[in-house]
Amino acid sequence: MSSVDVFISKEQIANRVKEIGALISKDYAGKEVTVIPLLTGAFMFAADLLREIKVPVDIQFMATSSYEGTQSTGEVKINYDLKRSVHGKHVLLVEDIVDTGTTLKTVMEIMKTRKPASIKLASLLYKPARNIHPVDIDYLGFEIEDKFVIGYGLDFDGRYRELPYIGVYQA
Ligand code: IMP
Repeated sequence: MSSVDVFISKEQIANRVKEIGALISKDYAGKEVTVIPLLTGAFMFAADLLREIKVPVDIQFMATSSYEGTQSTGEVKINYDLKRSVHGKHVLLVEDIVDTGTTLKTVMEIMKTRKPASIKLASLLYKPARNIHPVDIDYLGFEIEDKFVIGYGLDFDGRYRELPYIGVYQA
């Protein structure tokens, strides 16, 4: 029987998202920002974060996948790509979690070839213990230990994304 323990509560997430939104609003004051949530995992974080960003935003989506169950395949697939050019735009990528860093390394490389004015990254979570490719996270929610987490957008085989908190999955 599997169970879910609350790891980061709904309130803790909401407070941190507000803080990050305020920082982003300050850093991009007077500019427009192209916010790119990386689907699927970042959808909930992005939806809440966007409501805390007080500068004009242009929203585009990109969908990546690299996981099967709780294992990273090490191969990143772009399943859905941007529909409009980001040339000369201020891009803010929004990710759920940086784990090995493989996804972000790949996405950053692709994004740079499209010549935006700037690229920054907001990630809700970072698991340093498993990092292989160092990634600069400009706006980080929480650094966590090496546990497989679910909820608030994160899944285990497509399940648990709807949970309003972040939990630890115990098989
Ligand atoms: P990376 O490419 O290894 O950095 O992994 C990034 C992606 O793997 C994230 O966007 C998640 O979709 C998934 N992932 C990594 N760790 C977890 C976890 O603990 N729970 C759920 N998904 C995870």
